[in-house]
Amino acid sequence: MTTALGGLPPYVYGTTRLGDESLPREQRLAMARTVLDAGLWIHTSDQYGDALQVLGEAIAEREEAPATIVKIGGGTADDVRSTILANIGPLGVDGVALGQLSPVSGLERSLAEGDARVLDGLRQLKSEGLVGRFVLEIFPWTSEAPLAALEAGHLDDLVDGFILYINPLQRFASNPLWDALQDRGSALISMRTVAGNDVRALRDVPGAAWRSYLRERAAEIAPIFGRSGVGDWAEFCVRFALGLPGVRSTVGSTSRREHLDAYLRLTRAAVPPLPQDVVDEILALHRRWSDETDVHAEPWTM
Ligand SMILES: NC(=O)c1ccc[n+]([C@@H]2O[C@H](COP(=O)([O-])OP(=O)(O)OC[C@H]3O[C@@H](n4cnc5c(N)ncnc54)[C@H](OP(=O)(O)O)[C@@H]3O)[C@@H](O)[C@H]2O)c1
Repeated sequence: MTTALGGLPPYVYGTTRLGDESLPREQRLAMARTVLDAGLWIHTSDQYGDALQVLGEAIAEREEAPATIVKIGGGTADDVRSTILANIGPLGVDGVALGQLSPVSGLERSLAEGDARVLDGLRQLKSEGLVGRFVLEIFPWTSEAPLAALEAGHLDDLVDGFILYINPLQRFASNPLWDALQDRGSALISMRTVAGNDVRALRDVPGAAWRSYLRERAAEIAPIFGRSGVGDWAEFCVRFALGLPGVRSTVGSTSRREHLDAYLRLTRAAVPPLPQDVVDEILALHRRWSDETDVHAEPWTM
């Protein structure tokens, strides 16, 4: 497998906030223009409200389209083709740079068993230029098939890396899959840069954590963050994610210019990793949380 995912920038702008219809559309459009002006890669999906339409409007005003990571679905190559088309239509672009495959809807079996018809069909989408490269999305409850496929070599020359939640509160792969990815030096894209909010808000503000497990984890992480000497939660998170072996980019979302500027300031120069003892403490928590909670969760409830 190609493990490089070369060319990815350290910070990728995720577009959930662009599709957040509780914010005025003009504000979201202005943010889209700012993000495109900054030349950022975009992570998007037709599942994020009207984010594609907002982005499409901003893209249409420009000569150059941004590079995109697009969450695509489907159990067969034809399904995957349809979802790519459903995304690139509103964006007004010819293809996606990175297609994020989700191992559900039967695709998990095809990957684990090496179904040549499906895998060759996916390669065909690359040779047509509809998608540049593929990454495979991982969750704790979908980790088994990717691990089997990885070990059987069925992802070779098809999938260039893996994309999953990685932040101080979440490392969303089963422990065996995580170990296999680290052993192989696989390229990774981390999502949910700050776990959705400032750690102290997640811990202390009622309703800030959308599930109680995040509040409990924030209570365990906040003292480690405090002891680290890093004053800013976003900086702590960016340095944590990008300091892990294999992680090429972190995908975060914001509707605020000042938050975006802070991410860009942080990632414009080389990002220093967190002290190793801080990282080790967090990794030990991840390993425990994964076994105790994540892999037992009802799918898609975390
Ligand atoms: N399965 C999937 O493919 C999947 C799932 C989840 C996410 N994603 C991708 O990952 C992207 C990021 O995910 P996410 O939005 O869940 O996670 P996130 O980036 O960790 O959290 C975004 C939230 O955190 C706030 N925030 C941003 N920077 C902050 C800062 N410096 N201090 C305090 N709060 C801050 C934002 O509010 P403000 O707007 O006020 O800044 C926003 O509400 C998504 O947009 C999406 O592209 C993909």
